[in-house]
Amino acid sequence: MSLKPCQLLVFHAGSVITWDSATPAQADALIVDQGKVVAVGSEAEMRAAWSPASELNAEGGLVVPGFVDAHVHPVFAVGRAEEFDWRAEGVEYLEIAKRGGGILSSVRHVREAEEEDLLMKVRSHFRRMRRHGTTACEGKSGYGLSTEAELKSLRVMQQAADAEGMPLSATFLGAHMFPLEHRENPERYLDILCEEMLPAVKEQGIARAADIFIEEGAFNATQARRYCERAKELGFALRIHADQFHEIGGTQLAVEMEAECVDHLEALSDSGLEALALSGKTFAGLLPTVPHFLRQKIDAPGKKLIQAGVPYFVATDFNPGSSYTPSLPEAAHFARIRLNLSAEQALFGVTLGAARSLGVEAQKGHLGPGADADLLVLDLPDLYHFGYAFGENPVVKVVVAGEVQQ
Ligand code: NIG
Ligand code: FE
Repeated sequence: MSLKPCQLLVFHAGSVITWDSATPAQADALIVDQGKVVAVGSEAEMRAAWSPASELNAEGGLVVPGFVDAHVHPVFAVGRAEEFDWRAEGVEYLEIAKRGGGILSSVRHVREAEEEDLLMKVRSHFRRMRRHGTTACEGKSGYGLSTEAELKSLRVMQQAADAEGMPLSATFLGAHMFPLEHRENPERYLDILCEEMLPAVKEQGIARAADIFIEEGAFNATQARRYCERAKELGFALRIHADQFHEIGGTQLAVEMEAECVDHLEALSDSGLEALALSGKTFAGLLPTVPHFLRQKIDAPGKKLIQAGVPYFVATDFNPGSSYTPSLPEAAHFARIRLNLSAEQALFGVTLGAARSLGVEAQKGHLGPGADADLLVLDLPDLYHFGYAFGENPVVKVVVAGEVQQ
């Protein structure tokens, strides 16, 4: 029998996690052609059928789908390390925001930044994510808070993603906070959001989803309802920040609006959990590095949500104020420690769970035949070590569309 030519053979994996039930448990090799996974099985079987143009020795490591980060704020110009000391002195996150720090200090820097400089910063954020195994992501604007600065943020984010080869699902987050100039008249900002910003973003076709921060000191449920209705009417998918500190109806609204996801959920009540379980559609976005970073004592009820059958993902929430990490392996570690997820649940949350929440599960988040050949070799002996260590990067090889990255 003649051998079929193909792009790449990955071999000598400790195991291959594909999330495809047809993959044999003892699979240690995988074949890629034209950027897609075409077969998974034993090395002997693969070599008996295929003639690869190149080979990658996984050296006994764990082969997994490339990570998908479904909640990222990559468009910021500088970090906010000074707030770390303020918090150590007991000043809380919402108090820092009230004083004009927090999100609004990032807004000042993004508004001031030259487009070219901002582009370099965002590209560096995507590179940091990629080094930690993220091969596709969602990305939010939200540090512009004016039509001009939000459009600039979305434009720069897409340019950065294209330049770095990071498949991006863009989300407009003009409703992150009320900007200083509209503090006295928040309804005016809501008008601008609904009648100027959302339509402009739609017209330019530079975001597929819209997001809002529903929280005391940000947007209340009534304001959020108006924003979400308008966004839906314009054809945006909804991804929502809610129940981070206070339960003010955000989860219930997200379910009612059939949002793709509602993220944070540290303050989720039993009735909120029930609403999510009943919906079965709206994903719970678990961001377990955030309460760690903010020194919060409460966590999202991750385990309970999963037990109740709520679809979920685990994400970094990479941003300068509440989660300054680009690393999904780190987020997985915190998901295991603080949310009591198993290794398998944590890995699922940063791969297929995340891809499903973004509607890209045909191509991303798994390694079944036909999937994009975005995969990682992790220096881990088995699945149970995923999220076990922290403070070190387990990613030793990143493969994108069958091309091994340097
Ligand atoms: O997801 N909670 C609201 N927004 C971001 C934090 C933004 C910031 O502090 O800069 C979050 O945690
Ligand atoms: Fe966020």
